[in-house]
Amino acid sequence: MAGTLRIAVLASGGGTNLQALIDGATAGTLGAEIVLVFSNNPEAGALDRARRAGIPTRCLDHRGFSDREAFDAAVVAVLQEAGVELVALAGFMRLLTPVFIDAFPGRILNIHPALLPAFPGLHVQRKAIDYGARFAGCTVHFVDGGVDTGPIVIQAVVPVHDDDTEESLAARILVQEHRIYPEAIRLFAAGRLRIEGRRVRIDPPGPAPQGVLVNPTLGAGA
Ligand code: GRF
Repeated sequence: MAGTLRIAVLASGGGTNLQALIDGATAGTLGAEIVLVFSNNPEAGALDRARRAGIPTRCLDHRGFSDREAFDAAVVAVLQEAGVELVALAGFMRLLTPVFIDAFPGRILNIHPALLPAFPGLHVQRKAIDYGARFAGCTVHFVDGGVDTGPIVIQAVVPVHDDDTEESLAARILVQEHRIYPEAIRLFAAGRLRIEGRRVRIDPPGPAPQGVLVNPTLGAGA
């Protein structure tokens, strides 16, 4: 369809976030077409999900490249050949070099399973539990040169329960990831995201949420 944003999803693993994006595209609510699913891992479940949905796939194993820049240059060539306008990282376990980032300025999104700027990096659900955080969540952000440091588009908050394991918390967060990532892409596709320094403006703004979360719940008399 003319005018529909062409996106590529990059994933290294099982691809449940990819699936949420595929479902949104299929339902016609994403405002974007997934023209390519790319992986660095030939075994990635994400590639199977894409094939089942009839989406073209490409895989380049990073271990076959001399350095990160050479790998990134090859990925960029694949994406450009496919006419990709927005890159959505969804569990893509490679750090991007400037070779990649500069090829898609302001056009790379990532989903991270923590409330940034708390807990960038890996194993962040475990880190939130070990730290004793009462809330965790997920963040969709633009990608810049740092590790999970780019301008934040949208976040969702979940409580951390006393008996949470890394798995139970990750599962609670993942449900929200599958809601906010399609929403972020909808906003981008609609041309409503404007990066201003560290901040992302949403234009026009949606309704502001009014609720307040307290964990643990306030006792009587509070
Ligand atoms: C998600 O938790 C995402 O936030 C992180 O990697 C995980 C990917 O999960 N970046 P999936 O492959 O989408 O199921």
